[in-house]
Amino acid sequence: MGLLSALGAPKSWGEKSVQAMVSVSNLTRKFGEFTAVDDLSFKVAPGEVVGFLGPNGAGKSTTMKMITGFLAATAGQIEVCGLNIDTDPKQVKQRIGYLPEGAPMYGDMTTQRFLGFIAQVRGYRGAEINNRIDAAIERLELEEVRYQTIETLSKGFKRRVGLAQAILHDPSVLVLDEPTDGLDPNQKYQVRKLIKDIASEKAIIISTHILEEVDAVCSRALIIARGRLLADGTPTELMTRAEGHNTIELVTGAAQADALQQALSGLSGVASIDTTISRDNADNRVLRLRPNDGADLLDSVNALISETNLPVQQIHRQQGRMEQLFRQLTTTDTEAG
Ligand SMILES: Nc1ncnc2c1ncn2[C@@H]1O[C@H](COP(=O)(O)OP(=O)(O)O)[C@@H](O)[C@H]1O
Ligand SMILES: [Mg+2]
Repeated sequence: MGLLSALGAPKSWGEKSVQAMVSVSNLTRKFGEFTAVDDLSFKVAPGEVVGFLGPNGAGKSTTMKMITGFLAATAGQIEVCGLNIDTDPKQVKQRIGYLPEGAPMYGDMTTQRFLGFIAQVRGYRGAEINNRIDAAIERLELEEVRYQTIETLSKGFKRRVGLAQAILHDPSVLVLDEPTDGLDPNQKYQVRKLIKDIASEKAIIISTHILEEVDAVCSRALIIARGRLLADGTPTELMTRAEGHNTIELVTGAAQADALQQALSGLSGVASIDTTISRDNADNRVLRLRPNDGADLLDSVNALISETNLPVQQIHRQQGRMEQLFRQLTTTDTEAG
Protein backbone atom coordinates (compact mmCIF):
# COMPACT_ATOMS: atom_id res chain seq x y z
CA MET A 1 0.00 0.00 0.00
CA GLY A 2 1.37 3.40 -0.93
CA LEU A 3 1.83 6.12 1.59
CA LEU A 4 -1.11 8.14 0.34
CA SER A 5 -3.59 5.30 0.48
CA ALA A 6 -2.18 4.15 3.83
CA LEU A 7 -3.02 7.55 5.14
CA GLY A 8 -6.42 7.49 3.52
CA ALA A 9 -5.30 10.31 1.21
CA PRO A 10 -6.88 13.20 3.06
CA LYS A 11 -8.78 15.64 0.90
CA SER A 12 -6.70 18.54 2.15
CA TRP A 13 -3.69 17.21 0.26
CA GLY A 14 -3.56 19.72 -2.52
CA GLU A 15 -0.90 19.42 -5.20
CA LYS A 16 1.52 21.54 -3.23
CA SER A 17 1.12 19.98 0.20
CA VAL A 18 1.75 16.41 -1.07
CA GLN A 19 5.41 17.37 -1.18
CA ALA A 20 5.55 18.57 2.41
CA MET A 21 6.32 16.03 5.11
CA VAL A 22 6.12 18.67 7.76
CA SER A 23 3.87 21.65 7.39
CA VAL A 24 3.76 24.30 10.08
CA SER A 25 1.35 27.23 9.79
CA ASN A 26 1.18 30.24 12.06
CA LEU A 27 2.58 28.30 14.98
CA THR A 28 2.61 30.24 18.25
CA ARG A 29 3.48 29.27 21.80
CA LYS A 30 3.11 31.49 24.81
CA PHE A 31 4.32 30.90 28.34
CA GLY A 32 2.10 33.25 30.30
CA GLU A 33 2.54 36.64 28.71
CA PHE A 34 5.81 35.65 27.06
CA THR A 35 5.71 34.59 23.40
CA ALA A 36 8.41 31.95 22.84
CA VAL A 37 7.29 31.03 19.30
CA ASP A 38 5.64 33.75 17.27
CA ASP A 39 3.61 32.92 14.18
CA LEU A 40 6.06 30.52 12.52
CA SER A 41 5.20 29.03 9.13
CA PHE A 42 7.34 26.70 7.02
CA LYS A 43 7.32 23.38 5.17
CA VAL A 44 9.82 20.58 4.93
CA ALA A 45 9.95 18.28 1.90
CA PRO A 46 11.34 14.73 1.76
CA GLY A 47 15.11 14.67 1.38
CA GLU A 48 15.51 18.07 2.96
CA VAL A 49 17.67 18.70 5.99
CA VAL A 50 16.38 21.93 7.42
CA GLY A 51 18.43 23.73 10.03
CA PHE A 52 16.82 25.84 12.74
CA LEU A 53 19.47 28.39 13.34
CA GLY A 54 19.15 30.81 16.19
CA PRO A 55 20.67 32.07 19.41
CA ASN A 56 19.82 30.57 22.77
CA GLY A 57 16.25 31.28 23.69
CA ALA A 58 15.16 31.77 20.07
CA GLY A 59 12.38 29.20 20.38
CA LYS A 60 14.00 26.30 18.53
CA SER A 61 13.43 23.64 21.19
CA THR A 62 9.91 24.87 21.89
CA THR A 63 9.06 24.57 18.18
CA MET A 64 10.51 21.06 18.08
CA LYS A 65 8.55 20.00 21.15
CA MET A 66 5.35 21.14 19.46
CA ILE A 67 6.15 19.36 16.18
CA THR A 68 6.86 16.14 18.04
CA GLY A 69 3.74 16.45 20.15
CA PHE A 70 5.44 16.96 23.50
CA LEU A 71 4.08 20.44 23.98
CA ALA A 72 0.75 21.90 22.90
CA ALA A 73 0.68 24.93 20.63
CA THR A 74 -1.07 28.09 21.75
CA ALA A 75 -2.16 28.67 18.16
CA GLY A 76 -1.42 27.40 14.68
CA GLN A 77 -1.41 24.14 12.76
CA ILE A 78 1.08 21.30 12.46
CA GLU A 79 0.80 18.54 9.89
CA VAL A 80 3.19 15.63 9.58
CA CYS A 81 2.86 13.43 6.49
CA GLY A 82 -0.51 15.08 5.95
CA LEU A 83 -1.76 14.18 9.44
CA ASN A 84 -2.86 16.86 11.83
CA ILE A 85 -1.12 16.66 15.17
CA ASP A 86 -4.23 17.64 17.13
CA THR A 87 -6.55 15.12 15.55
CA ASP A 88 -4.03 12.27 14.98
CA PRO A 89 -1.37 12.68 17.65
CA LYS A 90 -0.56 8.97 17.85
CA GLN A 91 -0.16 8.53 14.12
CA VAL A 92 2.02 11.61 13.98
CA LYS A 93 4.29 10.27 16.73
CA GLN A 94 4.69 7.02 14.80
CA ARG A 95 6.10 8.96 11.89
CA ILE A 96 8.51 11.07 13.89
CA GLY A 97 11.84 10.28 15.48
CA TYR A 98 12.96 12.79 18.09
CA LEU A 99 16.28 13.47 19.71
CA PRO A 100 15.36 15.85 22.53
CA GLU A 101 17.62 18.58 23.86
CA GLY A 102 20.21 16.98 26.14
CA ALA A 103 18.77 13.56 25.15
CA PRO A 104 17.68 12.21 28.54
CA MET A 105 18.33 8.49 28.77
CA TYR A 106 18.33 5.75 31.35
CA GLY A 107 21.99 5.68 32.39
CA ASP A 108 21.92 2.35 34.18
CA MET A 109 20.55 0.50 31.13
CA THR A 110 22.85 -1.01 28.55
CA THR A 111 22.56 0.20 24.96
CA GLN A 112 20.82 -3.07 24.10
CA ARG A 113 18.28 -2.82 26.93
CA PHE A 114 17.58 0.84 26.35
CA LEU A 115 16.88 0.30 22.66
CA GLY A 116 14.77 -2.75 23.55
CA PHE A 117 12.78 -0.62 25.95
CA ILE A 118 12.21 2.02 23.28
CA ALA A 119 11.18 -0.69 20.79
CA GLN A 120 8.55 -1.89 23.24
CA VAL A 121 7.30 1.61 23.86
CA ARG A 122 7.07 1.98 20.08
CA GLY A 123 4.80 -1.08 20.08
CA TYR A 124 7.10 -3.76 18.68
CA ARG A 125 6.77 -7.29 20.00
CA GLY A 126 8.64 -10.59 19.74
CA ALA A 127 11.44 -11.02 17.22
CA GLU A 128 10.76 -7.60 15.72
CA ILE A 129 12.21 -6.01 18.86
CA ASN A 130 15.61 -7.58 18.24
CA ASN A 131 15.46 -6.86 14.54
CA ARG A 132 14.87 -3.20 15.30
CA ILE A 133 17.68 -3.08 17.87
CA ASP A 134 20.12 -4.77 15.51
CA ALA A 135 19.29 -2.46 12.62
CA ALA A 136 19.70 0.66 14.76
CA ILE A 137 22.95 -0.62 16.30
CA GLU A 138 24.34 -1.32 12.86
CA ARG A 139 23.27 2.03 11.47
CA LEU A 140 24.79 4.01 14.31
CA GLU A 141 27.84 1.71 14.67
CA LEU A 142 27.14 0.88 18.28
CA GLU A 143 28.17 -2.78 18.29
CA GLU A 144 31.17 -2.24 20.55
CA VAL A 145 29.04 -0.61 23.26
CA ARG A 146 25.99 -2.87 22.93
CA TYR A 147 26.35 -4.34 26.43
CA GLN A 148 27.81 -1.28 28.11
CA THR A 149 25.67 0.85 30.43
CA ILE A 150 24.80 4.22 28.94
CA GLU A 151 26.23 6.22 31.86
CA THR A 152 29.70 4.79 31.11
CA LEU A 153 29.67 5.86 27.45
CA SER A 154 31.55 8.80 25.96
CA LYS A 155 29.47 11.80 24.88
CA GLY A 156 29.83 10.79 21.25
CA PHE A 157 28.51 7.29 21.87
CA LYS A 158 25.73 8.60 24.10
CA ARG A 159 24.61 10.88 21.29
CA ARG A 160 24.68 7.99 18.87
CA VAL A 161 22.49 5.95 21.24
CA GLY A 162 20.13 8.93 21.28
CA LEU A 163 20.07 8.94 17.48
CA ALA A 164 19.57 5.16 17.45
CA GLN A 165 16.39 5.48 19.53
CA ALA A 166 15.21 8.27 17.23
CA ILE A 167 15.52 6.15 14.05
CA LEU A 168 14.53 2.82 15.63
CA HIS A 169 11.07 2.77 14.02
CA ASP A 170 12.34 4.12 10.69
CA PRO A 171 10.34 7.34 10.89
CA SER A 172 9.69 9.56 7.88
CA VAL A 173 10.52 12.67 9.84
CA LEU A 174 13.45 13.22 12.17
CA VAL A 175 13.59 16.08 14.63
CA LEU A 176 17.03 16.45 16.20
CA ASP A 177 17.55 19.11 18.84
CA GLU A 178 21.19 20.28 18.81
CA PRO A 179 22.49 16.84 17.82
CA THR A 180 26.15 17.87 17.88
CA ASP A 181 26.05 20.09 20.96
CA GLY A 182 28.90 19.38 23.36
CA LEU A 183 30.71 16.96 21.05
CA ASP A 184 34.35 17.27 20.09
CA PRO A 185 35.19 18.06 16.44
CA ASN A 186 35.61 14.40 15.43
CA GLN A 187 32.35 13.40 17.06
CA LYS A 188 30.61 16.38 15.45
CA TYR A 189 31.89 15.28 12.07
CA GLN A 190 30.64 11.72 12.64
CA VAL A 191 27.18 12.82 13.71
CA ARG A 192 26.89 15.23 10.75
CA LYS A 193 27.89 12.48 8.39
CA LEU A 194 25.28 10.17 9.88
CA ILE A 195 22.59 12.79 9.46
CA LYS A 196 23.54 13.24 5.81
CA ASP A 197 23.50 9.45 5.28
CA ILE A 198 20.05 9.13 6.80
CA ALA A 199 18.69 12.15 4.97
CA SER A 200 17.83 10.89 1.49
CA GLU A 201 14.27 9.66 2.03
CA LYS A 202 13.39 11.50 5.17
CA ALA A 203 12.61 15.03 6.18
CA ILE A 204 15.02 16.13 8.86
CA ILE A 205 14.88 19.16 11.09
CA ILE A 206 17.92 19.91 13.20
CA SER A 207 18.49 22.84 15.49
CA THR A 208 21.85 24.41 15.99
CA HIS A 209 23.45 27.64 17.06
CA ILE A 210 26.58 26.74 15.09
CA LEU A 211 26.63 28.58 11.80
CA GLU A 212 29.11 26.28 10.08
CA GLU A 213 26.85 23.35 10.82
CA VAL A 214 24.16 24.76 8.60
CA ASP A 215 26.60 24.90 5.73
CA ALA A 216 27.91 21.42 6.51
CA VAL A 217 24.62 19.49 6.76
CA CYS A 218 21.59 21.54 5.84
CA SER A 219 19.98 21.93 2.45
CA ARG A 220 17.97 24.81 3.87
CA ALA A 221 18.16 27.03 6.89
CA LEU A 222 15.55 28.89 8.85
CA ILE A 223 16.97 31.70 10.90
CA ILE A 224 14.93 32.18 14.04
CA ALA A 225 15.27 34.80 16.74
CA ARG A 226 12.80 35.73 19.48
CA GLY A 227 10.42 33.11 18.19
CA ARG A 228 10.18 34.71 14.77
CA LEU A 229 11.30 33.50 11.37
CA LEU A 230 13.78 36.00 9.98
CA ALA A 231 15.07 34.17 6.90
CA ASP A 232 14.45 30.95 4.99
CA GLY A 233 16.69 29.74 2.19
CA THR A 234 19.55 27.51 1.10
CA PRO A 235 22.87 28.30 2.77
CA THR A 236 24.05 29.80 -0.54
CA GLU A 237 20.96 31.98 -0.93
CA LEU A 238 21.32 33.21 2.61
CA MET A 239 24.99 33.98 2.17
CA THR A 240 24.21 36.22 -0.80
CA ARG A 241 22.04 38.30 1.52
CA ALA A 242 24.92 38.95 3.88
CA GLU A 243 26.37 42.43 3.84
CA GLY A 244 29.69 42.34 2.09
CA HIS A 245 28.70 39.59 -0.31
CA ASN A 246 30.61 39.98 -3.60
CA THR A 247 32.71 42.77 -2.20
CA ILE A 248 35.81 43.01 -4.39
CA GLU A 249 39.19 43.76 -2.88
CA LEU A 250 41.99 45.04 -5.07
CA VAL A 251 45.56 45.60 -4.01
CA THR A 252 47.58 48.18 -5.89
CA GLY A 253 50.58 50.47 -5.38
CA ALA A 254 50.02 53.76 -3.52
CA ALA A 255 50.86 55.76 -6.68
CA GLN A 256 48.06 54.16 -8.73
CA ALA A 257 45.39 53.99 -6.03
CA ASP A 258 43.65 57.26 -6.89
CA ALA A 259 43.51 56.56 -10.61
CA LEU A 260 42.18 53.08 -9.98
CA GLN A 261 39.55 54.30 -7.58
CA GLN A 262 38.41 56.93 -10.08
CA ALA A 263 38.19 54.42 -12.92
CA LEU A 264 36.26 51.91 -10.79
CA SER A 265 33.81 54.50 -9.52
CA GLY A 266 32.67 54.97 -13.12
CA LEU A 267 31.47 51.37 -13.34
CA SER A 268 27.76 50.83 -13.10
CA GLY A 269 26.53 48.87 -10.10
CA VAL A 270 29.17 50.16 -7.72
CA ALA A 271 27.74 51.27 -4.38
CA SER A 272 30.95 52.48 -2.77
CA ILE A 273 34.72 52.19 -2.84
CA ASP A 274 36.98 52.80 0.10
CA THR A 275 40.74 52.77 0.15
CA THR A 276 42.97 51.78 3.05
CA ILE A 277 46.70 51.23 3.55
CA SER A 278 47.63 47.58 3.15
CA ARG A 279 48.39 45.84 6.42
CA ASP A 280 51.02 43.70 4.70
CA ASN A 281 52.88 46.49 2.95
CA ALA A 282 52.59 50.21 3.73
CA ASP A 283 53.38 51.08 0.10
CA ASN A 284 50.25 49.32 -1.07
CA ARG A 285 46.62 50.30 -0.96
CA VAL A 286 43.57 48.07 -0.63
CA LEU A 287 40.48 49.20 -2.51
CA ARG A 288 37.26 47.70 -1.28
CA LEU A 289 34.47 47.91 -3.82
CA ARG A 290 30.95 47.20 -2.64
CA PRO A 291 28.36 46.39 -5.31
CA ASN A 292 24.72 47.41 -5.25
CA ASP A 293 22.45 44.57 -4.08
CA GLY A 294 25.28 42.07 -3.78
CA ALA A 295 25.75 41.98 -7.57
CA ASP A 296 28.78 40.19 -8.99
CA LEU A 297 30.99 42.84 -10.62
CA LEU A 298 34.15 40.77 -10.94
CA ASP A 299 33.98 40.42 -14.73
CA SER A 300 33.40 44.11 -15.33
CA VAL A 301 36.13 45.03 -12.85
CA ASN A 302 38.56 42.70 -14.65
CA ALA A 303 37.56 44.15 -18.03
CA LEU A 304 38.13 47.67 -16.76
CA ILE A 305 41.54 46.80 -15.41
CA SER A 306 42.73 45.41 -18.70
CA GLU A 307 41.25 48.36 -20.62
CA THR A 308 42.91 50.97 -18.43
CA ASN A 309 46.14 49.01 -18.01
CA LEU A 310 46.33 50.01 -14.37
CA PRO A 311 48.63 47.69 -12.42
CA VAL A 312 46.70 45.58 -9.89
CA GLN A 313 48.62 43.12 -7.74
CA GLN A 314 45.73 41.17 -6.35
CA ILE A 315 42.01 40.92 -6.90
CA HIS A 316 39.71 38.96 -4.67
CA ARG A 317 35.95 38.60 -4.45
CA GLN A 318 34.49 37.92 -1.02
CA GLN A 319 31.59 35.60 -0.34
CA GLY A 320 28.92 36.67 2.10
CA ARG A 321 29.27 35.00 5.41
CA MET A 322 26.44 33.27 7.20
CA GLU A 323 27.79 34.72 10.40
CA GLN A 324 27.44 38.23 9.04
CA LEU A 325 23.85 37.67 7.90
CA PHE A 326 23.02 36.12 11.23
CA ARG A 327 24.34 39.18 13.05
CA GLN A 328 22.55 41.52 10.63
CA LEU A 329 19.23 39.80 11.14
CA THR A 330 19.42 39.16 14.84
CA THR A 331 20.73 42.55 15.89
CA THR A 332 18.21 44.47 13.77
CA ASP A 333 15.52 42.39 15.38
CA THR A 334 16.79 43.09 18.88
CA GLU A 335 17.07 46.82 18.27
CA ALA A 336 13.65 47.05 16.71
CA GLY A 337 12.03 45.00 19.45
N1 LIG B 1 8.31 25.76 30.04
C1 LIG B 1 8.66 27.03 29.89
N2 LIG B 1 8.17 28.00 30.68
C2 LIG B 1 8.51 29.29 30.49
N3 LIG B 1 9.34 29.73 29.53
C3 LIG B 1 9.88 28.81 28.71
C4 LIG B 1 9.57 27.41 28.84
N4 LIG B 1 10.26 26.75 27.88
C5 LIG B 1 10.95 27.67 27.20
N5 LIG B 1 10.73 28.91 27.69
C6 LIG B 1 11.30 30.16 27.18
O1 LIG B 1 11.03 30.26 25.81
C7 LIG B 1 12.12 30.80 25.09
C8 LIG B 1 12.56 29.85 24.00
O2 LIG B 1 13.17 28.72 24.59
P1 LIG B 1 13.74 27.52 23.71
O3 LIG B 1 12.69 27.08 22.78
O4 LIG B 1 14.27 26.51 24.65
O5 LIG B 1 14.90 28.25 22.92
P2 LIG B 1 16.12 27.63 22.09
O6 LIG B 1 15.92 26.15 21.99
O7 LIG B 1 16.09 28.32 20.77
O8 LIG B 1 17.35 27.98 22.86
C9 LIG B 1 13.20 31.06 26.14
O9 LIG B 1 13.13 32.42 26.50
C10 LIG B 1 12.80 30.18 27.28
O10 LIG B 1 13.26 30.70 28.50
MG1 LIG C 1 17.16 24.61 22.60
